[in-house]
Parts: sequence; C-alpha cells; structure tokens
Amino acid sequence: MALLMLIFTKISELTGYLSQINAQNKTVGFVPTMGALHDGHVSLIRYSKNTCDYTICSVFVNPTQFNDKSDLDRYPRMPEKDAALLKNAYCDALFMPLVNEMYPDSLLKENYDFGYLDKVLEGAHRPGHFNGVAQIVSRFFDIIKPDKAFFGSKDYQQVMIIKALVKQMNSSIEIIACPILRDPDGLAMSSRNALLSKEERTTASRIPQIMKVAKNLTATKGIKEAKLFVEQEITTVPSMKLDYFEICNADSLNTLTELTSQISAIALIAVYVGKIRLIDNVELN
Ligand code: PAF
Repeated sequence: MALLMLIFTKISELTGYLSQINAQNKTVGFVPTMGALHDGHVSLIRYSKNTCDYTICSVFVNPTQFNDKSDLDRYPRMPEKDAALLKNAYCDALFMPLVNEMYPDSLLKENYDFGYLDKVLEGAHRPGHFNGVAQIVSRFFDIIKPDKAFFGSKDYQQVMIIKALVKQMNSSIEIIACPILRDPDGLAMSSRNALLSKEERTTASRIPQIMKVAKNLTATKGIKEAKLFVEQEITTVPSMKLDYFEICNADSLNTLTELTSQISAIALIAVYVGKIRLIDNVELN
C-alpha cells in the first residue's frame, strides 16, 4: 500500500494544511518529539491514530530546554530515519521546523511559574528546563491547536507540567499520558539510549533492576531503606552517578517518607551512565 505523509518545515504551510482538516471537522492528535524516534514514539502515534482522525508529529530539538550546551550538541539527530519510521507508522504529517522558524525573535523567554512542580526533581537538577519545554509546547499548541496531545510517561514530571500548562493557557487540549515502553531487559526506551556505548548500554540495564528492588524494599522495609539501597547500589558501579532518587506523592510530587494506602506513590530516578543522563520511574501502589 502506498503511504503518504506530508512533511512541513514552515508554520504557514502547516497551518494551511490544518485549516483543510478543520474545514472537514476532523480531530487532530499531536505527538511532539525531539526526534531519534524509537518504538516508544511509535506507540504514541498509535494512541493518537486510535482516537483522532489525523495525527501530526513534530521533530524539533528544542534549544531552550537544554541547560547544558554539550547535552544539546550531542543530542542525536537522524531526520531521514525519523521520517521513514513515521511514514511506516502511518503518521499523516511531520512538522520539522528549523530553530528560527520556532524562535524568530531570538530564543525569547516567557517566564512560566508552575509553583512547586517545576522546583523539584528535574526542575531542581536542570534549571530552566521546564520553562523551555513549556515555551516550545505552548508554541506548538498555538500553531497546531490539536484536540489531544500524547506524551510518554517516562517523563512523568513533564506530563504534569504540560497538564498545568494547558490549564494556564485556558486550553481544552486533552493531554494523554501513555505508558513507558521498555526494551526486553527493562530499560525504558529513550532517544538518549542511542548515545550509550555497548558497555554503557549493559550498565544502563541495571537501572530497571535497581528500581524493581527499590519498589519491593519500599513495600517491605520502607522508603529510607529503599533510598539507601539505590544510593549504595549505584555507588558500586564506577560508570554510574546518581543525580536523584525520590519517592513522591504521584499527584503532587511532594516527597514521601512513608507509604500509605490513601496516597499513590511513585519512585523517580535520574542517573548518569558515563556522560548520558537517563531518567525512569515506577509506580508503587
Ligand atoms: O519530551 C520531549 O521529547 C520534549 O521535551 C518535547 C515535549 C518534545 C518538547 O520539546
């Protein structure tokens, strides 16, 4: 079967296409990405295709969400491969703008305030990160005006920020958090995995194992023991460095010191394997 996927680099062309869709009263699902696409992204496209008439994916490595210039420079870029993968996933349109298309007036900075949500975990360890995410996502939302937007739950805190963002924008866009996809050894799929050497990739597979033990320890011995275990375990691996491991209220991200049946809890981790920073999370109850 011949597949057709439109590729846009200019906002004006994309909005022209979108107005044709709107004229037919069809729904639009949006999957924002930074490229180096993997099966996790394909699953987001599938979720969108299952519930929306048209699916639009963006591939844009957003400079304003990188607090570390070397991280931005080394972020994997493979546009042709991404386009082929999206075409095979029956994505309807791909939007791949250049930086000056999205940021015509320099990297202008709106200042968002998400209260506690952007001060902890990723927010505390990557200053300015969520401001950059909110900046670009709100820009995409303004341009595309999707009915639904799909995000992976590996970036758990990001999903919470985006939900807060649409509230601040008074927008009716429905934010759908999709489950984490994992490789057979349990490592959460991430574009950054492509940057790991063979040895680092093997080391990275310890992350889901450590999280699994930590989850059991939380239930049997408590949060303090689980945290101690994670810290000690990661210290024993020379190429790993823990950025944070926290057990939080899954609805507020407040740090928990004990589990109770009334509060849903989540364990979140950020860890360096060599120079590559990986994140993961696991729901606890
Ligand atoms: O999760 C990502 O890939 C990015 O943060 C996003 C949402 C595409 C914004 O640049």
